[in-house]
Amino acid sequence: MTNHQDFRKERDSAAVVILGAGVAGLTLGNLLQAAGVECVVLERATRDHVQTRARAGFLAPGTVRVLERHGLADGLRRRGLPHGTCEFRTADGAFRLDYSRLGRREQHTVYPQQDLVTDLLGHFLDGGGEVRFETTALGVEETDGPRPTVTVRDAEDRPGRWRARYVAGCDGRHGAARDSLPPTARRHRRDHGVTWLGLLAEAPPSLDAVGYALHERGFAGHMARTPEVTRYYLQCERGLAADAWSEERIWDELDERLYAPKLGPLLRGPIVQRGIIALESDVVEPLRHGSLLLAGDAAGLLSPTAAKGANLAVLEAELLAEALVEDLVHGDPGPLERYSQRCLRNIWRAQEFSHWMVQLLHAPSESGASGASGEEASYHAALRASRIEALRTSRPHQDWFAENYLGL
Ligand code: PHB
Repeated sequence: MTNHQDFRKERDSAAVVILGAGVAGLTLGNLLQAAGVECVVLERATRDHVQTRARAGFLAPGTVRVLERHGLADGLRRRGLPHGTCEFRTADGAFRLDYSRLGRREQHTVYPQQDLVTDLLGHFLDGGGEVRFETTALGVEETDGPRPTVTVRDAEDRPGRWRARYVAGCDGRHGAARDSLPPTARRHRRDHGVTWLGLLAEAPPSLDAVGYALHERGFAGHMARTPEVTRYYLQCERGLAADAWSEERIWDELDERLYAPKLGPLLRGPIVQRGIIALESDVVEPLRHGSLLLAGDAAGLLSPTAAKGANLAVLEAELLAEALVEDLVHGDPGPLERYSQRCLRNIWRAQEFSHWMVQLLHAPSESGASGASGEEASYHAALRASRIEALRTSRPHQDWFAENYLGL
């Protein structure tokens, strides 16, 4: 078998070729680099794009511990904000869960995902890491042998090939890794039938909590980012264009769904980013196919309802890095053989909780205004009200929520 050091002698080869410069790929890259395993990161987008793309921003305590353990937490320790409260708003009023005093009594660190990506990238490059931006992986070949290759097109549209011992597919749900899976790969998939308009506003947060509003016009969410920037979500019709609504319409809609007339006005500001998010979930099983390994969104996509995507990505990257180092440096293939199973336990826990959140926050799509009967819609509305009531009044429910909300 080829030793991981041998790859240094060849052009366009590395012991591990990592597809994707997101949270999973860059965490993995940093950990491999620290262990002396040569790797390269191939990223389809520009550096600017990966550093500015707005995503969730809630890091669980376990995620922070992993990043701290590997010296990757300087930025989030300096600029991240502790967060431990969420507020549910319904037509009946509002209540708060101080989840930092429930369950395991821990809290989130709010740190925008694009800032985490910027930190991880800076750390990797400062340590001598190589990232090829604007390099599109087209496919991964020969994954059933010890020399997989990645076919690419570079920034100048030139074709090329990267040779590796292992390929880590951290390139998301539409990446080359998923396209290159053998027919034996199983895909579990759920379309929740719900769509969000994701918004980034240059406006201070309007409440000192995550806000989840259940309204007959649809869900609205208020998520802190920084003292100057707030993330909002508005449930919308599938097919709506991201730019269909004027800023005024968006703020009016947020006001109404967050019950601003009753519970206090929202601080308005320019909307600087918007995107449509179809709430979908999927899992690829197993996560290892010969010399191709999946992590992050490529392994499993979570609906964004519980903001767990980046958290899962960090945990998977750590497990994968440890397993690759054991194999490549110490010659022990055992951890890599167990990688998929170890991740899948976390993945399905996170899937289950995210799915529960989807059902808590939205009417099921098939019983919306355009779907099934009014009787069914009112049945589901009453179920959700009962769920919310249990969360408002029952300490065991609250502890369960806090533990799942914060943990994996
Ligand atoms: C977010 O930070 O965008 C976020 C936070 C909590 C959620 C969903 C999204 O439940």
